[in-house]
Amino acid sequence: MTALFPPAPPLGTPMLPVRPSPEARQLIALRRSVSKRGLMAPGPDASTLDELLTVATRVPDHRRLAPWRFLVFEGDAREAFNQRAVEIQKRETPDASETMLADTAGYFTRAPVVVAVISSPDPTHKTPVWEQELSCGALCQNLLLAANASGWAGCWLTEWIAFSPGIDDLLGLTENERIAGYIYLGTARDTPQERMRPDADAKIDRWQA
Ligand SMILES: Cc1cc2nc3c(=O)[nH]c(=O)nc-3n(C[C@H](O)[C@H](O)[C@H](O)COP(=O)(O)O)c2cc1C
Repeated sequence: MTALFPPAPPLGTPMLPVRPSPEARQLIALRRSVSKRGLMAPGPDASTLDELLTVATRVPDHRRLAPWRFLVFEGDAREAFNQRAVEIQKRETPDASETMLADTAGYFTRAPVVVAVISSPDPTHKTPVWEQELSCGALCQNLLLAANASGWAGCWLTEWIAFSPGIDDLLGLTENERIAGYIYLGTARDTPQERMRPDADAKIDRWQA
């Protein structure tokens, strides 16, 4: 099995500070998520996924805390999660409609691979939790880009399962941990279309004293 990405060089290796790349520019400028129902098998196999996750951890990380971790759902684990999630939803939301429960029953089987990205900050550390959480957000985006660059489509979803004490418990999150998102990976079912984009000019100001 050939490696998709170059391995991390030994500590202290002189590194290029820039890597001009038309392909990387295209990837960033033209990237698109697929919709929540836009994925099908196949997805990355376990060793490919491990490579994607490894390269995704190459993010800015103030004071090298690595304040994040992954929980991978593949194969039967996805259906098992779905069933437990339905039970939790019934308990936490007694008035959940049949449609909501049916949606939940299909959540993780919408894709061949689902990665829960868990923000795992150290609140006692002098690096603010906010900075640690931002590093986790960068990790999610890195994972999507690494997947796209390797031929896998993906999307970053949260939904109620990212904000549920019962799910946190099921997944073994500690008190300070939160779900940053579930990254769904697989093969695109259809062609996403360009969506409305914000007017970037309206977001750019130049500060003057
Ligand atoms: C933290 C986070 C959570 C998200 N959760 C959802 C979600 O639960 N449902 C959804 O439809 N889109 C969600 N999105 C948006 C999609 O991931 C995606 O960005 C959006 O469909 C726009 O597509 P694009 O990434 O190609 O611009 C979320 C995005 C982020 C950053």
